[in-house]
Amino acid sequence: MSTAAADRLTFRSPDDWHVHLRDGDTLALVAGQTARQFSRAIVMPNLAPPVTTVAMARAYRERILASIPAERAFTPLMTAYLTDHIDAGEVARGHAEGVFTACKLYPAGATTNAAAGVTNVRHIDGVLERMQAIGMPLLVHGEVVDGDIDVFDREAVFIERILAPMLQRFPELKVVLEHITTREAVDFVREAGAGVAATITAHHLVFNRNAMFMGGIRPHFYCLPVAKREHHRRALRAAATSGNPKFFLGTDSAPHALADKESACGCAGIFSAPVALESYAATFEEEQALDRLEGFASVFGPRFYGLPLNEGTVTLIRRPNVVPEVVASGSLRIRPFHAGETLAWTFEERD
Ligand code: NCD
Ligand code: ZN
Repeated sequence: MSTAAADRLTFRSPDDWHVHLRDGDTLALVAGQTARQFSRAIVMPNLAPPVTTVAMARAYRERILASIPAERAFTPLMTAYLTDHIDAGEVARGHAEGVFTACKLYPAGATTNAAAGVTNVRHIDGVLERMQAIGMPLLVHGEVVDGDIDVFDREAVFIERILAPMLQRFPELKVVLEHITTREAVDFVREAGAGVAATITAHHLVFNRNAMFMGGIRPHFYCLPVAKREHHRRALRAAATSGNPKFFLGTDSAPHALADKESACGCAGIFSAPVALESYAATFEEEQALDRLEGFASVFGPRFYGLPLNEGTVTLIRRPNVVPEVVASGSLRIRPFHAGETLAWTFEERD
């Protein structure tokens, strides 16, 4: 049960159903940020090279666990990166062995390290058929990559041209449409069968596309899918706070070094892990729905994935939370979401 006194918010320990933890120095810097607030996380496989085999996922899981303090209870849930040629048997074996929780579909070229993604979804019909049979979720980066489709329309067009026909072919396939950004996505997921759900990031609830152009070009508000118009943000806020179990928490925290963001060709991604729960709490409070945060953050995700709910709790305190301008280790500097702002809630503990 969540309890919300005026100055204290305690609820069942949450999970992050979509996060980028990277590797090497970045992993060492960011993994603890996610493990501090969340009991489990679905870890994206878009490394270079991508995580396409059971052995690679096992090794990556070990590196993640090695970068988190031993006393910290945290379970990374691994994903397989789908390519045109990935073997259905490898995917199914990884699932059976408890290594792959889900598969991730990146349309080739859609985003960071998506070059090896799927060029035509029909190429993976055999894999999708096997996943449907074994109840393994497909996590979808839902954007077409065609140069003639406007960047702001790529999600809606993907739903119409790729996702809807895919669900016709595989009506029992469990699908999470990741980091949704449009009213069209909200409507599609709401009206689809019970096997279709969506994650919503903290940042897409906070700003619309204007944030990228406030007085100049602002690379720290650039992510993919790119933020859309205000009416889309409003639809996302309504969905997240509705209590509908088809919508749950996935930060899409996607750290990039400062210099890679502040560049002539800046990387897409927002590093929200350090203040994820504080940011979601702000949105839910503004929508007068703090009592629904627990469902969104801690209940609907595990129910969809068929996993047990976490046992412990998290607590946020109403105390001014000055977000640092950068999170750094050695020469690596990453700007967090809400940098320089003062948030109303401060994450206190997870037990
Ligand atoms: C992600 C990344 O950098 O890996 N970037 C992002 O803007 N969200 C990839 C992704 O999820 O699109
Ligand atoms: Zn992502």
